[in-house]
Amino acid sequence: MVEADTLQGEWWKSAVFYEIYVRSFRDSNGDGIGDLRGIIDKLDYLNDGTPSSLGIDAIWLSPVHPSPDYDFGYDVSDFSSINPAFGTMEDFDELLREAHDRGIRVVMDLVMNHTSDEHPWFMESRSSRDNPYRDWYIWRDGRSFRRPPNRWRSAVLGSAWTYDRDTRQYYYHAFLKRQPDLNWRNPSVKASMFDVARFWLDRGVDGFRLDLINHLVEDEELRDNPRCLGRYPYEWQEHIYDRDRPETHQVLKEFRGLLDEYGDRMMVSEVYAFDPKLAASFYGEGDDESHLVFNYDYLFTRFAAKSFRRVVTEWDNAVPEEGWPALFLGSHDTPRLFSRYGRFRDAWSRAKVLAALLLTSRGTPFMYYGDEIGMSNCHIPRWEMQDPVGRLVWPIPMGRDRCRTPMQWNGGPFAGFTSGTPWLRVHRSYKHRNVEEQSANEESLLDFYRRLIHLRRRTPALNRGSMRVWGGTQKIWQGVPLKYLTYLREHGDQSILVAMNFHGRMARLHGPSEDGHFSRFNAFRTIFSTHQGQDEFSDLRQVVLAPYQVLIMEAVGST
Ligand code: GLC
Ligand code: CA
Repeated sequence: MVEADTLQGEWWKSAVFYEIYVRSFRDSNGDGIGDLRGIIDKLDYLNDGTPSSLGIDAIWLSPVHPSPDYDFGYDVSDFSSINPAFGTMEDFDELLREAHDRGIRVVMDLVMNHTSDEHPWFMESRSSRDNPYRDWYIWRDGRSFRRPPNRWRSAVLGSAWTYDRDTRQYYYHAFLKRQPDLNWRNPSVKASMFDVARFWLDRGVDGFRLDLINHLVEDEELRDNPRCLGRYPYEWQEHIYDRDRPETHQVLKEFRGLLDEYGDRMMVSEVYAFDPKLAASFYGEGDDESHLVFNYDYLFTRFAAKSFRRVVTEWDNAVPEEGWPALFLGSHDTPRLFSRYGRFRDAWSRAKVLAALLLTSRGTPFMYYGDEIGMSNCHIPRWEMQDPVGRLVWPIPMGRDRCRTPMQWNGGPFAGFTSGTPWLRVHRSYKHRNVEEQSANEESLLDFYRRLIHLRRRTPALNRGSMRVWGGTQKIWQGVPLKYLTYLREHGDQSILVAMNFHGRMARLHGPSEDGHFSRFNAFRTIFSTHQGQDEFSDLRQVVLAPYQVLIMEAVGST
């Protein structure tokens, strides 16, 4: 069933991850909210050990802890139990067991930066200035009447400080005011949070996705950030004192030590920043912090070979030699992948090109539920909005409901997500765009993901190999700009060449055959393609890509 390789050390390097936004995946009890039993029901869809299932190796669950849901689980009020809306601890243990039986690892979201304002620690903390928990959060006097301690801004909107009338001080929150930041300079905070991690590791969880990790520790003196130019108010300051602090790296190194005690567990860090170098710094020195880090740069890339060439190579160069890139093209915080690039009639073809990039470039891919069937942004009218961020900044379209609509399983009522009324509306596309329909169709996006994931699994060069990129530059060749991206992945004596045409016109490959590196290959044999065509080439210059073609070839007969 499960290949032994995926279950051994550094499994996270060759695994394909799948993010499940728990509220929206599958509701098993008809209350309209996705839950743990719903996930158990769908594990076979994710990986039943045969090529007819999607074939992913690990799931990342959005937070499953009790929460007043001001930020849908990212405001945790109890780190060591399960939100009753999602199920019980027994359900969770069963999910772990059932997932592990299928060779699927389970990674939890760990929100270490802040808690809910309804967490008992904060209730104590805010109750009086001399409460023992006061120092668990960041409390300060204002600079003067009605002026917060400094000019730091919340990443969402407005000041990062909220005034508490009862104790006449301000508390700090990098995100919403319902999410007070913990004071990581207090050793008890660290000890308690590390205990939380141990609690779940002991239950058998395979790792954590660390939420907003670069916000963990703040400047001790709370110095103001220097001002600068930016697109919106949060970017009008250079965030050198409220995030990315050296002290945070120290905590991460210790956290890595904790994980290492358990052997084969992992962490992937969310670094909320758009700078690959900064993101890469969270791998630590060499590889003594995060195993993997997300790079938000991928999400703001135009659909062009040139642009993706830039992000892919910049990220690959930024990640330290001992590290390993994480790749992602969407999450529960970003507009849907399909909608970002799919406004044109070529949407499905473009989605396949990006799926190929995600699953074949060097690094660990993270898929977001529903991207495999092309779920797109859903327009949510203001009165149905659930996401606090969306409501706060309306009508600026920053809300995240649009990418969190229920998974589209079939063409039945509410897309087969629930037998009740879903917490958030289902996208109207569900009648034709759903798992059931696409499972039966060999041309579908779902089938494409499935075949590529299985190809990746059995092709070491694709999941572990080195990468050498070319193409995608705007160099004009015979009057036509190059609109394809190509890379060679190599592992042992296996050499795999991936070519993706980012353009709606045909493109002839050129270039690499003049490179000495390629002269050792006698022929290239097609092992995967979106189009029918020739399957063996003696020279890459014979390769002509159809519009949006994805072509994967194995180099044969090296001399
Ligand atoms: C992260 C989460 C996001 C959440 C925020 C605050 O960015 O991905 O969903 O709202 O942190 O916890
Ligand atoms: Ca913090």
